[in-house]
Amino acid sequence: MNPFIDRRRLILSGLAGGALAPLAAVPAAAASPARPETPDRPRGFAPGDWHSVRDQFRLSRDYAQFAAFTFAAHPAGVREAIATHRNRLDEDPSRYHRENADREVAVRTAAAAYLGVRPLEVALTDSTTMGLALLYQGLRLGPGDEILTTRHDFHSTYEALRQRALLTGAAVRRVSLYDDPAAASADQLTTRLLAAVTPRTRVLALTWVHSGTGVMLPIRMITDAVAGINARRDAADRLLVCVDGVHGLGADDTAVADLGCDFFAAGTHKWLYGPRGTGILWGREDAWPLVQPIIPSFGWMREEPPPVIDPGLMATPGGFHAFEHRWALTEAFAFHTAIGRERVARRIRSQARQLKDGLAALPGVHVATPRDDALSCGIVCFSVTGRTPREVVTRLESEHRVLADVTPYGGALVRLGPSLVTDPQEVDRAVRAVAAISRR
Ligand SMILES: Cc1ncc(COP(=O)(O)O)c(C=O)c1O
Repeated sequence: MNPFIDRRRLILSGLAGGALAPLAAVPAAAASPARPETPDRPRGFAPGDWHSVRDQFRLSRDYAQFAAFTFAAHPAGVREAIATHRNRLDEDPSRYHRENADREVAVRTAAAAYLGVRPLEVALTDSTTMGLALLYQGLRLGPGDEILTTRHDFHSTYEALRQRALLTGAAVRRVSLYDDPAAASADQLTTRLLAAVTPRTRVLALTWVHSGTGVMLPIRMITDAVAGINARRDAADRLLVCVDGVHGLGADDTAVADLGCDFFAAGTHKWLYGPRGTGILWGREDAWPLVQPIIPSFGWMREEPPPVIDPGLMATPGGFHAFEHRWALTEAFAFHTAIGRERVARRIRSQARQLKDGLAALPGVHVATPRDDALSCGIVCFSVTGRTPREVVTRLESEHRVLADVTPYGGALVRLGPSLVTDPQEVDRAVRAVAAISRR
């Protein structure tokens, strides 16, 4: 029996019938008794208590962790699941893999529940970058077509689009949505974007929260306007809205289904605190046929072409993976759900507001991120007159034990990300630290 074909059957039946049993309920293989590592599990988890939430992380308390959103530390539940899977894979990899092959169903089901979409629409990836590459490099485009992106997107989008343009002859154009991010408005962002759409434009390639400025795009306003454009187009020429959502997922509480976009790529190893090296790519069921899978899936291992039944599975790269990480992703969704996604979003927004208000009151400090909660999320970017961003970040760390980073874009800024692993006292400390650096 081919385990992968059998796995596909399992996956489809799982998608039809619901989720897999929780980790604790999965029996260990007879010859591979569980010998999980004993990570330092904090006593109890009280999701309603922010101290207890912070205690789930081993993140060093020597520093205020305002750069933690760039690459996740694992909370206890994720660490334990990884350790359990890793130990069992080390003891008996082929059997443990075979017996747990349908765990991907549980991951896709958990992701779908969190995103508000259907499990068969979700592909599993290793990162935002992989999701964007699978999406953009697989888009069925031709020489007359155009992709419109913005001047505020990340390298992974630009490079995937550049490669696609080289292969297909499609054109890529970039539009600037704002000159001064702090003064951006939802109307201005939407109007500038849509004014750049031409009859040839087939794809909008956007980023939900810009990691260079902290601006959060009004995606729903944009997709509502795009629906108006599509109402005047043939279905085959529909304008697709594709979103890099990595700095919104796990930070904002809008369900992806409510954004109204066609595709959404995100790593789950940033704000969501999923296992490092995990991510998702979601597409609407009727949009998936517009993307050619570029990495062979292991969901179908026969010579004849696969039936189009489960686009998320067919878009999930095959090959063996770090399954101990992939399978532990369910625990990250469970962590956020236990705390409550609205509470998570409020906690992040309230600290971001406190930080922006504190920084904006300092002489010589210019906050680039909009003050408006609807146009920003957790990322807060700013500059200090007379200091380079690198100097500010270095001094924050060495003199004040505050971890920040420099945005990886031209026109670099200092970037802080208040989150579940920071608290309002640390926000005040960060503001005092910036004040001290700006003075001397
Ligand atoms: C907007 C944006 N997209 C994508 C990435 C890359 O994410 P990943 O590491 O999940 O590929 C980053 C930064 O790491 C980013 O800021």
